[in-house]
This record gives sequence, C-alpha cells and structure tokens, in this order.
Amino acid sequence: MSRPRSRAMVALVLTLTATSHFFNLRCFVRPGARYTTHPAGRSHVRYAFPGGESIAAAIATGFAAVENFNKVGQFADLIQKWSSVMPGAELKLEVDKSTDDNVLKHVEKLCEEIALAVDNNKTISVLGISSQRQANMGTRVVDDTPFQKLMTKVLAVNRSGCTAVHAEPGMGKSIASLRALPAGRVSKNYTVLLDGPFRAEMMRFFRVSSFELVVSVARMVFPALTQAGVSMNMIFDNGVEDDEDFHKSRTEWILLLKAAYESGHHLIVVTQSEALAMKIGSVNGERSRVSAEQETPEKYRWAKEQAREYLGYLLEARNIPPEAVGVEKFLSSCSIPDVYGGWKPIAMSNYLDFNETPEVLCTTSPTQNRAVWVRQLQQD
Ligand SMILES: *[C@@H]1O[C@H](CO)[C@@H](O)[C@H](O)[C@H]1NC(C)=O
Ligand SMILES: *[C@@H]1O[C@H](CO)[C@@H](O)[C@H](O)[C@H]1NC(C)=O
Ligand SMILES: *[C@@H]1O[C@H](CO)[C@@H](O)[C@H](O)[C@H]1NC(C)=O
Repeated sequence: MSRPRSRAMVALVLTLTATSHFFNLRCFVRPGARYTTHPAGRSHVRYAFPGGESIAAAIATGFAAVENFNKVGQFADLIQKWSSVMPGAELKLEVDKSTDDNVLKHVEKLCEEIALAVDNNKTISVLGISSQRQANMGTRVVDDTPFQKLMTKVLAVNRSGCTAVHAEPGMGKSIASLRALPAGRVSKNYTVLLDGPFRAEMMRFFRVSSFELVVSVARMVFPALTQAGVSMNMIFDNGVEDDEDFHKSRTEWILLLKAAYESGHHLIVVTQSEALAMKIGSVNGERSRVSAEQETPEKYRWAKEQAREYLGYLLEARNIPPEAVGVEKFLSSCSIPDVYGGWKPIAMSNYLDFNETPEVLCTTSPTQNRAVWVRQLQQD
C-alpha cells in the first residue's frame, strides 16, 4: 500500500499524461533519492539509480498498453510492483478530475481514434473475453447455426436505438455472434462487440474509470461520431443476464439508447432470457424493440447435421474414433428431451465428457410455459 504523501516529497516527476484516459501517473520521490529531472519525450524524469532507466522505459511501455488496449488493471498492479523496487520513489495511478474541458478532450480523442480505424478499414472490433475466443476459434466451428443467421440479419439491418435478441443458454450465442460480425459492414461503418458485464465493458470501451462517466462521455461521443461520418453497431454479449442487472442500470440504458437513437447508432443486446429481452425491448418505446426476426427460443437449437459436424470436432479434439461412441446413438441420446428436440453444443460436450444427459431447463419464460402446455395438450 502507498505511504501517506509527506510534504517533503517532490511530487509529479513523471508526467505521462493519459490522452485517452481519466487518470495521470504521478511519481513521488522522497528527498535524498538519486534522480535528476530531465525532459525526455513525454517522461520528465531520468532515474540515476541502477536500473532506473529500464524501469522508466517499462513504465512508458505499460502506459502505451493502457492507451492502446485499456489494460488499466494490469498496469496498476505493475505500478505497485515497480514502486517496491524503486528506491525512494512512490508511484501512483491517480484518477484525473473530470472537468468539462477534460471530458471534451477525451471525447475528441476517442472519436478521432475510431474515425481513423474506420479510414483504415478496421471496421470490426472485439473487446473483452471474446477477443481471445475469436483468436482461438480456428476453423473448427459450426457455421450457419440458426442464431448466427439471426445475428446476421439483425446486423445487416440499418437500425438505430436498441434491439434485443435471445436464445437459450448453451446454444453457442457468443461464437455465433462473432461469426456474424461481418454483416455489420452492410449497415454501419463500425461494429464493436463488447463481451462481459455491461458496466465494466462500457468503461472499457469509453476508456473512463467510473461508470458515472460512461453516460456523459457516450452522450457526447455518439453525436460526435455521426459528425465524423461514422455510424456504429454496438453488440453487448453476456452483458445483461438478469433482471437485477438490468434494473441496476435502467436509467443509464434509457439515456444511452436515446443518444444512440438520435445519432443513428444501433445497440444490440444478446441475452439468454426471453423475458429479459422483452423487458429491454420495451424500455423506451419506438427506440427499442425485440428483433422482428426473433423466433421462439427452441428454434435456435441446432439441426442434426450441425450436431453431427460438431460431434466430429469434439471427437477429433479428444482423439476418440467415431466408432467408439456410435454417432447415431450418441446424437439421439443427447438431443433435448422435449417436444421440440434439437441439439445444444454445451449439452453435447457434457454428454461426451461427463455422460450427463441433457435436461429441459425449468425457467419461467413464456416459451417454456408454452412447451409445458403443448405437452399437457398432447397428453390430454
Ligand atoms: C476491408 O476489410 C475487409 C475485411 O478484412 C475486406 O473484405 C475488404 O476488401 C477491405 N476493403 C478495402 C477497401 O480494403
Ligand atoms: C442508414 O440509415 C441512415 C438514416 O436513415 C442513413 O443516413 C444511412 O445512410 C443509412 N446507411 C446505410 C449504409 O444504408
Ligand atoms: C459511413 O457510412 C455512410 C453510409 O453508408 C457513408 O455515407 C459514410 O461516408 C461512411 N463514413 C466513413 C467514414 O466511411
């Protein structure tokens, strides 16, 4: 932990001022420490103790990583570590004051970066866990699943405001969303997928250190992007998964989607609950909706051919010959045991790895009730 700042300390030696974040890195050095100030590039310090130069260089590199990839958390950890090996120095990451002037500068910088990316044909961006998922995906992916088709349609339509879509858990929504991203080019100039908790991902995208700042920054960034000729699809995957989650940020959602609507940007929410999708879809009148292409959840289960292809990949990855499981028998054992049938990738791998037979999920969603009701009718 940092020591209390004493008056004898020389403050602000290292001034690497963040240009796209609301914080500054400040270095406090105790009297007697061997250092000399020396303006070199953006760093105002030259460390005279052994190894000081390399630490200064590492800090500059770390800072660039924060600016370019928003790795604030990792950088803060590193700073703690470096602090402990720098004689007499105390490094701190400080949150800058969000004055109107600072916010405006931040907004301009962010818009400039996005517009530049669009100019360079970098029109698709993936943040959060999905960026790793995309990198590791390879070619062994079942394409054209029903949910991928839904996402492709949703992305290709030039809408603004907010559209919600849903499918049961374990259906491969995240991979399907990634595969559908190129369709975003049809409707907008820039498509970004945020994968993770809504608040955290919005802070990451807008590069601010608190959620309070997200709304004010977004409400300026949205129109500024439009001014720069950029319209955006923004997909939220795994961002809102339950009512509590949604209600916690409901006010902010309304403000954000109003701003998005007025500027012609499209926010797309992917969720696993039909009831929640309906709630999000009706949050702000005409500005929000459940996708017109949305079908009942069971329609997003995989067809037998897709299940067969996926089983092939699963077996291959585990070095199991197909004869060992008996493909037909396997497929019939792990289809969803309700009136709709069909396959789910997660249920298939669970059956293969843990011999866990698929179950019908008991939720209170209207469709599940409908399913129960249909079965009841059949029995009667
Ligand atoms: C932009 O990138 C996409 C995908 O990488 C590619 O298909 C397209 O041809 C590129 N367009 C230009 C003008 O370079
Ligand atoms: C999408 O719609 C907006 C508003 O109607 C329009 O200005 C824009 O040109 C459209 N974009 C495309 C790619 O059709
Ligand atoms: C974004 O798309 C719109 C509509 O297709 C187009 O008019 C505009 O020039 C594009 N902006 C950029 C920066 O490419």
